[in-house]
Amino acid sequence: MNATPQDYRHLDVGPLLGNDSGMNDLLYVNGGNPLSGTITVRGAKNFVSKAMVASLLGETKSVLRNVPQIRDVAVVSGLLSLHGVQVEYSAADGVINLDPSAVESAHVAEIDAHAGSSRIPILFCGPLLHRLGEAFIPDLGGCHIGDRPIDFHLEILRRFGAEVDKREGGIHLRALGRLKGIKMELPYPSVGATEQLLLTAVRAEGITELSNAAIEPEIVDLICVLQKMGAIISVDTDRVIRIEGVDRLTGFTHTALGDRIEAASWASAALATGGDVTIKGAHQVEMMAFLNTFRKVGGQFEVHDQDIRFWHPGGPLRSIVLETDVHPGFMTDWQQPLVVALTQATGLSIVHETVYEKRFGFTCALRKMGANIQIYRECLGGAPCRFGQRNFHHSAVISGPTPLHAADVEVPDLRGGFSYLIAALAANGRSTVRGISLIDRGYEAFQEKLEALGADVSRG
Ligand code: EPZ
Repeated sequence: MNATPQDYRHLDVGPLLGNDSGMNDLLYVNGGNPLSGTITVRGAKNFVSKAMVASLLGETKSVLRNVPQIRDVAVVSGLLSLHGVQVEYSAADGVINLDPSAVESAHVAEIDAHAGSSRIPILFCGPLLHRLGEAFIPDLGGCHIGDRPIDFHLEILRRFGAEVDKREGGIHLRALGRLKGIKMELPYPSVGATEQLLLTAVRAEGITELSNAAIEPEIVDLICVLQKMGAIISVDTDRVIRIEGVDRLTGFTHTALGDRIEAASWASAALATGGDVTIKGAHQVEMMAFLNTFRKVGGQFEVHDQDIRFWHPGGPLRSIVLETDVHPGFMTDWQQPLVVALTQATGLSIVHETVYEKRFGFTCALRKMGANIQIYRECLGGAPCRFGQRNFHHSAVISGPTPLHAADVEVPDLRGGFSYLIAALAANGRSTVRGISLIDRGYEAFQEKLEALGADVSRG
């Protein structure tokens, strides 16, 4: 069975095709119930989509396990299918089979229609340049949490020997002969740029060395996939990654690491609602920075082999000073859900966002719901970051505890959207959360999970 939009049964087909209808795109949330029970998180969105792209580099079939049924998987499946990859997905088993033996160029208009709201298309560059000698990458979507330029990506591709031609609607790339290994230092340890380099270097001629690389667990898992395919990659402790290019790669069989962002989101929901949630598929090693912070705020957790239990022990939560950072720091994607829980902590919490310059826009709606949050341009509470001199509102001071009340809110971005669900669950009264199809991008069956945890929610 080919992965078609119909396979993503609980998802709207419209958003998959970049055609939001707005129908039934809201959730009513009757707040006040502590979340309680057990849920499962499957593979990490920010790994699964990249591993799917990596399959393009192999000459044989790949099998990826623990794949969640989320819209980003649907978007990448669509793009791979357009390029001649046979994609078969069983949502129940979470297994995706990818056969790239008949890869071909796709029509520009179709690529555009399937790119949806994702940023993953930019990672098709290296694999397509190796397979076809050219690529067309549509203008990217993704969450509006900063400018999110792709200058590092384009610089990497140019240095490998690709001709990069910006056109209306996207970028056309052409390989001028076989791509050749490079030595490069990233200005910032960008996740996407590191992945771009990995997916390009593995089949380039000679050695590539990247300094100041990102080393997020999802990247390490991608390196494991590439090693299974036949790549030679070493990761040093000082953020240096070395790749020896090889002529051929095969397919892989791999089980995706769990989604630590989804796990932390549910943990924050447990804390904000005074609940007790066990998350199967959450792993300590990838969440250590989150677990430390969760404990400092006053939440409790218990790590088991297959799950982590998170709960609010009763009594007041504590305010904290927090700075987001690249791995092994506190992830930016954990920030938004946790901020909702911090509205319930006693005293002043300070959160300094150092990864994205505009990731506090979501706090407007929280203020509407009764939270006391002020946003500042200065780097508060930590070392100065690269946004300090640039006039961005990237520090927040949260004063609590403040009771939250119901409101009518519109999802601004993926993690901000989940944060609104948490706020609505913690609030008194019935909230309306609009634009929830955006949450489908990264949270598998979130309504079913909410219901399983005792939340009183219904679709509009
Ligand atoms: C990935 O985005 C994730 N997305 C993001 O998750 C995550 O927040 C981010 O990494 C950081 O962990 C996916 O994996 C699909 P970056 P990415 O390149 O790769 C700047 C979520 O909610 N930068 O590490 O796009 C950039 O502007 C999403 O799941 C450049 O300046 O992030 C940002 O400030 C949101 N030029 C910083 O680097 C470039 O060419 C980090 O971005 C590239 C990045």
